[in-house]
Amino acid sequence: MAKKIPSTSCNLITVQIVNIPLKLLLEGNAESGRGKCGMLLNNIVDYCYNDYWIHRHNCFCDDSCSANCNVCLEKIHFNKVLRHYDCRSMIDYYVCKYIYRQASEMAALLRCLPWPRALRSMRVLSIGCGSCSDLYAFLYHMAQKGSQLKLQYLGVDKNYLWQLVHRCIVHWADDYNLDVAFKYANVLDLFNKDDVRNKFGLPDVLVMQYFLSDMARVTAVKNMCQLIDDIVCQIIKRMPDGSLIIINDINARQHTFFRQLVSFPTARYYFEYLEQQVLSLSPRSKVWKFHFPLVGRRKYYRYGWKHPGNDILFAVPAYIKKNFSPWEKCGSAQLVIRKGF
Ligand SMILES: C[S@@+](CC[C@H](N)C(=O)[O-])C[C@H]1O[C@@H](n2cnc3c(N)ncnc32)[C@H](O)[C@@H]1O
Ligand SMILES: [Zn+2]
Ligand SMILES: [Zn+2]
Repeated sequence: MAKKIPSTSCNLITVQIVNIPLKLLLEGNAESGRGKCGMLLNNIVDYCYNDYWIHRHNCFCDDSCSANCNVCLEKIHFNKVLRHYDCRSMIDYYVCKYIYRQASEMAALLRCLPWPRALRSMRVLSIGCGSCSDLYAFLYHMAQKGSQLKLQYLGVDKNYLWQLVHRCIVHWADDYNLDVAFKYANVLDLFNKDDVRNKFGLPDVLVMQYFLSDMARVTAVKNMCQLIDDIVCQIIKRMPDGSLIIINDINARQHTFFRQLVSFPTARYYFEYLEQQVLSLSPRSKVWKFHFPLVGRRKYYRYGWKHPGNDILFAVPAYIKKNFSPWEKCGSAQLVIRKGF
């Protein structure tokens, strides 16, 4: 019997997942070419694809994007605006456009990491989890390896609108042997209350995927450093030896919005700060760095090891290519720290 996705309400906004033909929800689009690997990612993209066409007429963006929230996403990513992902159409658009790339970047990284063989379960805490593109990468990697690992995933994000995606993940969790939970909070508040530890226990893997660059857009350097200090003191310090800190983000140290002549430190600047802080806490930690080549271009930013190529790992259905021009090349910088003592 088909499971139904419940709609829930929260303080800020009510997100209702309704009107989607159950057939689409459960089977995806006929064209999507679902395979065993990456299936949850396909489920989520299909869902957002359908949701986009159903709800785009209710888009409430105030800068007349006419529900083409690609315009809004570009403004957020490439202009100095304080806006967040604040519209349902934008969330749907984000998923269809970016998660193939982001999940591929993380999956490519997971292949390079040493995993203890005897591992039976793994607890992942994802800060600024949003679309959960890291989760699809973990599942993809485990499927590729034939791993029976029990994955526990706690996603924390300040934006309630991601419930749209998170409820779908919860709906399908059993099918992927997943324990998932989501918390809607500003990480800055989280640390004061010790919520993460009490509710979830300490993570074996801490992930920050495109989180630092998103915060850096709207946060002064001093406050970013304080945030990292808090992450180190409140979470990393308590994580067991051998646990991993994984950061995947834009391959840039300084972000410049040319048209506005604004420039500020971003991802790799904070990678360095975090690395220093963790190493001074646990000097025997081991550090790996990776970047993707920009194939065809001689000049790009090198950061540690170079991945052999930059193609994404997931097949993108034709209807997504046609409507959302998804990013199909990987291009991030990645920092991994295995905590020592
Ligand atoms: C660029 S998105 C990346 C989302 C996701 N990790 C991914 O890979 O698609 C950054 C996310 O960080 C969240 N975020 C930014 N600042 C935050 C904060 N202070 N506390 C919690 N979440 C935050 C945003 O709401 C957004 O969902
Ligand atoms: Zn909108
Ligand atoms: Zn918009």
